[in-house]
Amino acid sequence: MSVELLFSPGYIGAVRIKNRIVRSATFSGRAEKYGSVGEKMINFYDELAKGGTGLIISGFISVDVGGTISPYQARLDNDSYISGQRKLVEKVHDIPEVKIAAQIGHTGKQGVHPKYPPVAPTAVKDKITGLTPRKLSKKEIEVIIKKFVDAGYRSYLCGYDMVQLHAAHGYLLSNFISPYTNRRDDEYGGNIENMTRILIMIHEQLREKVGKSFPIIIKLQTQDFIPGGLILDDGINIAKIIIKSGFDAIEPSGGIGETQIGTPNAYPSKIIKSTDDENYFLAVAKELKPFMGESKLIMVGGIKNPISAEKILKNGNADFISISRPLLYEPDLPKRWQSGDITPAKCISCNSCYLSMLTGPTHCVVRKKIERKKQK
Ligand SMILES: Cc1cc2nc3c(=O)[nH]c(=O)nc-3n(C[C@H](O)[C@H](O)[C@H](O)COP(=O)(O)O)c2cc1C
Repeated sequence: MSVELLFSPGYIGAVRIKNRIVRSATFSGRAEKYGSVGEKMINFYDELAKGGTGLIISGFISVDVGGTISPYQARLDNDSYISGQRKLVEKVHDIPEVKIAAQIGHTGKQGVHPKYPPVAPTAVKDKITGLTPRKLSKKEIEVIIKKFVDAGYRSYLCGYDMVQLHAAHGYLLSNFISPYTNRRDDEYGGNIENMTRILIMIHEQLREKVGKSFPIIIKLQTQDFIPGGLILDDGINIAKIIIKSGFDAIEPSGGIGETQIGTPNAYPSKIIKSTDDENYFLAVAKELKPFMGESKLIMVGGIKNPISAEKILKNGNADFISISRPLLYEPDLPKRWQSGDITPAKCISCNSCYLSMLTGPTHCVVRKKIERKKQK
């Protein structure tokens, strides 16, 4: 079985990607304290770039100091961060044909910053953090829109090949498109068009600054997997609005922090116990793909086997496949597959990488244990 299509080039907007393998955004915790880029982060991305991935999507970069997950998260909320980010992008571009996207976001309802209380479309208590976010006024929403546009424009100035809005996983932009976290009755709530407005406004304003040749893509919540949350039918209708507005690609995802309460469904990163659990957003991709038009579909979620990835592409269910956890274990996984070793990713999708985030830079705990054993 060959994996030819997986290693054939594809396009997102005007940008050529050397193969169909995308590194899905993965928070690395490797920024210097308070968000600038240093050696640690550059080396991490250098390793990924050398490993054969066609398009690397950065970990979630914050558009606002109050919207950060940790002091070791990269930021682009002011110009002082541009020079470090530029060095990172240049290092990745040293590897021929590797492209990199900046993912920009804000923690919203799930915010945990010690100085800046969380904000959201509606004041609904977060059951994980125990905090109740402050409801944003219309004026404040306009300020947030500008922060996204400014950070997106900075990513363009840094030399990134494209920008991805983080509108998934219970963070601020996804709070607007979920009925669980958006109970507003102004122009930002009440119906799907209004709930999607913030995404459309960011896109329009950013597009004006960066032009048509710089792709604007989106990681889009399509389901919350909680009672009263966003359901797939509405998620698909939101995606249709997004496609019509001119986003260059959609990476559908789902699940918020609270999805994990009382269930083993650790969305967005499902624990995979058997091959049946793999490719867990395939049904969403199949439903969405016929409506995509010029916009590309990047499918994420439990993709570990290059043969099934090839099949997904061949069947026309997605344009690109996207991988997060397996690249923490094997940053050179695409190279391995391309060299002819098409055994599945070694990652066991156990989510030990999530736990590692609590104490330091994100890493695969299993890989580290094996490396330690080898050294003994
Ligand atoms: C440690 C870790 C950090 C993550 N950080 C981000 C992030 O910054 N932005 C994002 O959109 N998704 C993030 N995700 C979710 C992944 O991008 C991806 O959607 C999910 O893990 C499913 O893909 P996988 O099965 O290939 O891991 C993260 C996942 C993990 C495991």
